[in-house]
Amino acid sequence: MLNKLPSSISALLDARADGHSLPAGLYTREDVFEADIDVFFHKHWICVGLDCDVPEPGDATVIDIGKTSLILLRDDDGEIRVLHNVCRHRGSRLLDPGKTIVSKLVCPYHTWTYELTGELSYAPHMGKDFDKDCRG
Ligand code: FES
Repeated sequence: MLNKLPSSISALLDARADGHSLPAGLYTREDVFEADIDVFFHKHWICVGLDCDVPEPGDATVIDIGKTSLILLRDDDGEIRVLHNVCRHRGSRLLDPGKTIVSKLVCPYHTWTYELTGELSYAPHMGKDFDKDCRG
């Protein structure tokens, strides 16, 4: 994977020296950050939790990986699900970081409400032609 990095980043990696701190650009450059996100978070499956992290229906925990916030939860049928921690309406985060217990996922912004399966169940003021089924 590292051989696919842009040459400017490869040059920083090549400039590393034993007994010295890393070149400053490895800490500060936006393109290095983007490359880190890509290499470490977009190339393979990542284990985000264990069965015992959500033992009961409604147990949920927020996990931030790279630039993505995820909700690991156990739904009412006992299935473990991982959902994006973002509302389909205007992108608000649904849950704050940490563990919690929920019966539904209610967006704090305009109260769009999602079942623990991720299905959108309530979206106020959207008009009669609004199709909730395609916004879970
Ligand atoms: S952003 Fe979630 S309900 Fe509007």
